[in-house]
Amino acid sequence: MGSIFAIDQQDSSCSARTGTLDLPHGKVSTPVFMPVGTNATVKALTREDLKEIGFDIVLSNTYHLYLRPGTEVISAANGLHNFMGWDRNILTDSGGFQVFSLAPFRKITEEGVKFRSHIDGSYHFLSPEKVVEVQALFGSDIQMQLDVCTPWGVERKEAVRALETTSLWMNRAKQAWETELAKGEYKGLFFPIVQGNFFKELREESAKRVIDADCPGIAIGGLSVGESEELFLEFLNYTAALLPKEKPRYVMGIGTPEYILGAIENGIDMFDCVFPTRTGRNGHVFTHKGCFALKKAENTLNFSPIDEECGCKVCRSYSRAYLRHLFKAQEILCSMLASYHNLYFLNDLVLKARRAIGENRFLEFKKEFLGRYEQSEE
Ligand code: GUN
Ligand code: ZN
Repeated sequence: MGSIFAIDQQDSSCSARTGTLDLPHGKVSTPVFMPVGTNATVKALTREDLKEIGFDIVLSNTYHLYLRPGTEVISAANGLHNFMGWDRNILTDSGGFQVFSLAPFRKITEEGVKFRSHIDGSYHFLSPEKVVEVQALFGSDIQMQLDVCTPWGVERKEAVRALETTSLWMNRAKQAWETELAKGEYKGLFFPIVQGNFFKELREESAKRVIDADCPGIAIGGLSVGESEELFLEFLNYTAALLPKEKPRYVMGIGTPEYILGAIENGIDMFDCVFPTRTGRNGHVFTHKGCFALKKAENTLNFSPIDEECGCKVCRSYSRAYLRHLFKAQEILCSMLASYHNLYFLNDLVLKARRAIGENRFLEFKKEFLGRYEQSEE
């Protein structure tokens, strides 16, 4: 297989780099933030919005789409791209995380995971092979292995068990993925996931096995699961340093400016999170001087934009006072505009980070950005 990732520039003062992913639905510049479209839609945004902001890849969830609308519908639509009308790339998460965070019942065996739907309580069984088949049917450009993600604070014994299952499932999933490729139609890539909770020797063992599997890219899972920011950064740094430089590295489930910049500094190329859209729907918006709540009283008569420095269409034509009113009146336009601005802001942050890496001054950029951001308006 030819390489799907090229490093363009390496910052000399830290591990940050820029690169290009060559995927079935076009090239993606890295570092890249991927917005989350759980139900085959990034909540409150149209695909035109996503393209206008400049996203070349979105994330979707196997767990949700498998349960609703189901594989029959997506198969009849000729895949997820057609179904949702998105002709750029899609990464699908395997459901490994969602089964653990959403399903009201789950039982893991070596074979796979049995669980009940959070929608209607029905019983389902997913194996690592089945999850590969489902993601291939979707036509995912990057598909993730089924894994076992443990929260912060579990005992070593449980972390070992999760690691062993994840590792076993990785090997079976990789075989199933190769079978899908051999059929000749499906061209998507497969990424395994490093687990190991907050035990360095387990992270090391997991990374070793993932590296041995020699897949197109590598994901780091099991972070941002309840630990402190300090521990998050320590384990992100530790795990990222174990991985080969030439492969794309993806940290799953992070999306605040602080975590994104920390990840880029540690040589991470890809990240995703519901945070910017979820927090937007809750009326919280990013600015260069920190995040603030639209509902706060000072915005009542404030006719300036969310962020004077933001070039997005929301900041060019809507005031804080108007947005506060929409929020208080529970108008859906508030969710749409806040989500748009937050995604634009994060994408712009990543664009600036790429530029700074190109100019060999990523650490300086990070310090400048966080110096202002962490002052916070609130
Ligand atoms: N999303 C956030 N963290 C994880 C993880 O550890 N595994 C998977 N599959 N998805 C995630
Ligand atoms: Zn804006």
